[in-house]
Amino acid sequence: MEKLFRGNDKLSDVIATDYRFLWIVSRFGISLGFGEKSIYDVCAEEKIDCNTFLAVINYVKSGAENTPQNVHNISVETLVKFLRQTHEYYLNYLLPNIRRRLLSSIDCSVKNEVAFLFLKFFDDYTQEVRTHMEFESSTVFSFVDQLLKGDLPSPESVHLMSKHHDKMEERLGELKNLFLQYYPQKENNNELMDVLLSIYGCEEDLTMHCLIEDNIFVPAVRRLEHANKLRKPKKIMEVVEETNEQDSDLSQREKEIVTCVAKGMANKEIADKLCLSINTVTTHRRNIARKLRIHSSAGITIYAIVNKLVTLEEVNM
Ligand SMILES: [Fe+2]
Ligand SMILES: [Fe+2]
Repeated sequence: MEKLFRGNDKLSDVIATDYRFLWIVSRFGISLGFGEKSIYDVCAEEKIDCNTFLAVINYVKSGAENTPQNVHNISVETLVKFLRQTHEYYLNYLLPNIRRRLLSSIDCSVKNEVAFLFLKFFDDYTQEVRTHMEFESSTVFSFVDQLLKGDLPSPESVHLMSKHHDKMEERLGELKNLFLQYYPQKENNNELMDVLLSIYGCEEDLTMHCLIEDNIFVPAVRRLEHANKLRKPKKIMEVVEETNEQDSDLSQREKEIVTCVAKGMANKEIADKLCLSINTVTTHRRNIARKLRIHSSAGITIYAIVNKLVTLEEVNM
């Protein structure tokens, strides 16, 4: 078995073995210029939980298999910061940056309508990633924040987290292949090749991000949840009963409203369609949010897809 990294390994030596560690280092908030320092010393200086950092880099080093990792010494708090930072990087830097370069490298003249379609595909994809990451940031991470305070919120959101991962990776792979197979390239275009390489890098990085969420973050959250249950046996029973009742208790009318929300309809449109007043729709939406513990439209949309109330094609992303 390959030797894993340990706290007393020099951080610069570790990064030299695999360029992908640069992504990880920056998302843990570690600045360059760490000289001869060990992982342990850098983590102590930057106030980062060293075990969590090691768990992530060792997971990547050993091939990032899609199997749950041993998470007994993981800091969920550190991991949430790391994942939030990754979302920030994607939504505010990487995807807008690729789009800008894509726009300048493809021919968007009226004559080349296909180029527009490639751009539209990329925009739809970006919106999909945004919806997913915003759902994680607003719903999943706030669920985890409650767990970190010792509470026992409904587990619904973490269950939903992994559901969308395959789709996101699939779409990016599809875009790449569409370019390779169907982009009507007229001349040598170094800039376009460069953007394609960035899309390859983005796909690799996003795959790694999703695997870390599925195999380190989710098991660590489950562990934390279990520990909270053991600490509060009485309260669990209340929460479990409450949760069961709430999850299975959407009325037919509420399901109709969830479907409309997932299709991107505003309250006024829902009211008109279902012949209700806006106030009634608002009350239903409040009850749905309370029952599902999902407050954003993006979260409701994911709930609706997972529970087969709508198909992906019907969703207004
Ligand atoms: Fe994520
Ligand atoms: Fe995710």
